[in-house]
Order: sequence, then C-alpha cells, then structure tokens
Amino acid sequence: MGLALALSFLLCSCLHGVSSGSPYFTSLFTLGDSYIDAGNFVVMAPPAVPVWHERPPYGMTFFGRPTGRLSDGRVTVDFIAEQFGLPLLRASLLNSSDDVSKGVNFAVGGATAIDVDFYERSKLVQFKLINNSLNVQLGWFEELKPTICNKTDKVNASVKPSSSLGSLE
Ligand SMILES: *[C@@H]1O[C@H](CO)[C@@H](O)[C@H](O)[C@H]1NC(C)=O
Ligand SMILES: *[C@@H]1O[C@H](CO)[C@@H](O)[C@H](O)[C@H]1NC(C)=O
Ligand SMILES: *[C@@H]1O[C@H](CO)[C@@H](O)[C@H](O)[C@H]1NC(C)=O
Ligand SMILES: *[C@@H]1O[C@H](CO)[C@@H](O)[C@H](O)[C@H]1NC(C)=O
Repeated sequence: MGLALALSFLLCSCLHGVSSGSPYFTSLFTLGDSYIDAGNFVVMAPPAVPVWHERPPYGMTFFGRPTGRLSDGRVTVDFIAEQFGLPLLRASLLNSSDDVSKGVNFAVGGATAIDVDFYERSKLVQFKLINNSLNVQLGWFEELKPTICNKTDKVNASVKPSSSLGSLE
C-alpha cells in the first residue's frame, strides 16, 4: 500500500528585505510530501515510523550524502530553486542557523492533503499517520511569516498548487 499525496508549491515574494538572482521571486516556500521532502520526514517519523532513506544510496548522485530527500539526488523544487537563482531549500524542521529569508521546505514524506484526524476517524488506514497534513504545514508557514515579511513589507504571494488531492491506493 502506498500513499500518493499532495504536492503543492507556495511561492512567496517579499518585495523588500531580500535579494536574489531572480527579478520575480525572492523566496520560495514549499509544501508537499515525499516528492519534494528535503529531510522533514527523517525528523518527524522516528521512532513511530521507520526511516530508511537516511542511508546511502540516497543523496549519492548530487550531494554525496543522504539529505533526507527520497531521491539519490535533487527533488523537483531543488531544480525550481536553481532556476530562480535561489539556494536549495532546507527542510523546515531541521534546526539551523541558516537564513530563512529565501525560503524553506515544509514538505514531509507521506503528508496528506486532508487532516490525519479524518483517516483515523474513518479507519481508512490501519497504521498511525504522522501529523503532517497540508494544514499542519500551512501552520508552520504562518508561524514563520513574521520573521520573513513584516507589516511594512508589501507581500505578493502566489499559491500554485500543482495537485491538491490526496489519494490512497
Ligand atoms: C521591516 O521591513 C522594513 C522594510 O524592509 C525594514 O526596514 C525593517 O527593518 C523591518 N523590520 C523588522 C523588525 O524586520
Ligand atoms: C530543534 O530545536 C527545538 C527547540 O530547541 C527542539 O525542541 C527540537 O527537538 C529540535 N529539533 C531537532 C531536529 O534537533
Ligand atoms: C496535528 O497538529 C495540529 C497542529 O499542531 C493540531 O492542531 C492537531 O490537533 C494535530 N492532530 C493530531 C491528530 O494529532
Ligand atoms: C503582485 O503580482 C501580480 C501578478 O504578478 C502583479 O500584477 C501585481 O502588480 C503585484 N503586486 C505588487 C504589490 O507588486
């Protein structure tokens, strides 16, 4: 059984306070699941859910080490960030002194578009889901917002969902 779930992007451009190589986007914040997770699952899953991709060959073709991405190299948002002249986004749950003004990646492997309470109530899945749904990720973004855009900034954010429905198979 696998979960094929939500993948969506939130592009937030703050007009002041940050600069980058792109004339249009100064920062990139991403929400989603394992397609673009850059390490949040590795922080959230254990010990309840086993993690297997913090070991080689994950990360071997680009980073030279596992990064928490479910890929041997980069994931799609890494290529988008590169195109915008932005740094590769770090996973939001990794403690780091890195500057967040150019963005972070909120995606978590296995994330659901619908809140996990729904799956628990309806007994649609036989295992414990990690509380990492789209709403939870949006909550993390809300918490971070004051540190990236203050009231004097004119925020021009565009939400570009590429798919917003969860599916179980
Ligand atoms: C808020 O944004 C303005 C304009 O970019 C900047 O001058 C100011 O220092 C910022 N304040 C804080 C608390 O970040
Ligand atoms: C990050 O820091 C917070 C607060 O200090 C702590 O609760 C959390 O466990 C840390 N996370 C990791 C992955 O180290
Ligand atoms: C998931 O996290 C959100 C935000 O922290 C919380 O409001 C909600 O109750 C949590 N749901 C479950 C099932 O733990
Ligand atoms: C925000 O972006 C839209 C679409 O690109 C543009 O039409 C609008 O003028 C922008 N607003 C500001 C305040 O820059």
